Amino acid sequence: MGKDVIIACDFASAQQTFDFLDRFTGRKPFVKIGMELFYAEGPSIVREIKKRGHKIFLDLKLHDIPNTVKKAMAVLSQLDVDICNLHASGTSRMMQAALEGLTRADGKRPLLIAVTQLTSTDSEALKNDLLIDEPMDKVVMHYALNAKNSGLDGVVCSPLEAAKVHETCGADFITVTPGVRFADGDIGDQKRVMTPAQAKEIGSDYIVVGRPITAADDPVAVYERCIAEFVG
Ligand code: C5P
Repeated sequence: MGKDVIIACDFASAQQTFDFLDRFTGRKPFVKIGMELFYAEGPSIVREIKKRGHKIFLDLKLHDIPNTVKKAMAVLSQLDVDICNLHASGTSRMMQAALEGLTRADGKRPLLIAVTQLTSTDSEALKNDLLIDEPMDKVVMHYALNAKNSGLDGVVCSPLEAAKVHETCGADFITVTPGVRFADGDIGDQKRVMTPAQAKEIGSDYIVVGRPITAADDPVAVYERCIAEFVG
């Protein structure tokens, strides 16, 4: 497993996505397909991007009863993506069922990672909406450990949590971290951000970068800058 930069392709249509990816001549960036694009275009968008030679993180964050998630994961597994995800709050039983569904007849499967607590959930919402009295940090590490003990490969987490996740779950437990911004850039709606160089320093395995690349005048140059800072 190597360090890499994953571009969040948060576009509304296949056309916009292909226009964007066409700018990367001779490069095949790792891309993240989220709910917006998947719900707009369906599984064909995944097949087409795969056919173009990109690695894919399919970010659909499943959360349902174990049997439903198992069956849904079996369908996603046929798309042959590189990484899938779910919510750790669906419980260990759901995560184990997801792994079973994801594993193909030949024993191979995409990597499966868990969302612990969304970075949009703050301590107040944790306490008042979710009725969880433990501190955020403890909740995130507990959910990460549940994911690890269920056989998952890693978690999506804030870059600020990546080092502690590795301490808690082991160096080879993958951390995928969004919330990346350049020191001289606009942070937008992301609150707790890190630069690609800081994310590297702290031990993130993959950084997910969206708007700093997708909204740039020269996306390829910004992507190359991310690669230079994060991968080296
Ligand atoms: O544009 P930006 O760099 O903020 O994009 C980050 C991507 O990572 C988006 O697709 C967003 O949905 C996703 N993400 C996030 N925070 C999480 C989980 C996913 O920003 N906790």
